Amino acid sequence: MKIISDRLILKEITWEDLGFIHELHSIPEIDEYNTLGIPKNVDETKEVIRPDIEDQKSDKRKKYCWIVSTIKTNENIGLAGMSLSADRFNYGELYYKIIPEQWGNGYATEVTKALIKFGFKTLKLHRIIAGVQTENTRSRRVLEKAGMTREGRHKKILPIRGEWKDNYHYAIVEDEYVENL
Ligand SMILES: CC(C)(COP(=O)(O)OP(=O)(O)OC[C@H]1O[C@@H](n2cnc3c(N)ncnc32)[C@H](O)[C@@H]1OP(=O)(O)O)[C@@H](O)C(=O)NCCC(=O)NCCS
Repeated sequence: MKIISDRLILKEITWEDLGFIHELHSIPEIDEYNTLGIPKNVDETKEVIRPDIEDQKSDKRKKYCWIVSTIKTNENIGLAGMSLSADRFNYGELYYKIIPEQWGNGYATEVTKALIKFGFKTLKLHRIIAGVQTENTRSRRVLEKAGMTREGRHKKILPIRGEWKDNYHYAIVEDEYVENL
């Protein structure tokens, strides 16, 4: 399942991407607002991505994870994903990570818009959600630029480096979706 936007191509991950994903997850700025923590070794990263790769064989897909690369230079610049709810709720939860050297180029916003389009147009979802640590201002801005609305705050729900952090809950529902926002 490949997704193409103006400047980016999103390809589903394979085991060949393990090295890039491990390096990405090992960058402190990438982990700053994340509950995963810096992986101790590559085997830990392997276990993180195993469910995503195994799900690719399922005929009832529930998890998607893509490597994000630039069309122009074919450089890997990040990772994005979407997990689906039980069928009766029909929603998906998205996430994204972009290497720090490429921050501020609008790539995360482009990825988020592409995932929202994929969710509503291809998967026919009813609702798409995302969670963001309340201090992650860059990511909040990305979700807002992509047309998502802040619906609420979950207090002290994220375990991050020994502290409980708050999480903002964002969403967009199908009748709010505007293509080419
Ligand atoms: C969050 C993240 C994906 C943003 O990637 P990006 O490609 O730089 O995002 P974009 O360029 O599309 O948009 C960033 C926006 O944040 C704004 N911004 C940058 N620094 C900021 C700051 N300190 N405070 C507030 N806004 C900031 C930018 O100006 C831009 O908004 P604008 O277009 O209105 O000017 C990237 O920082 C990242 O990978 N972080 C680590 C992983 C992560 O936190 N993922 C999200 C989990 S919810």
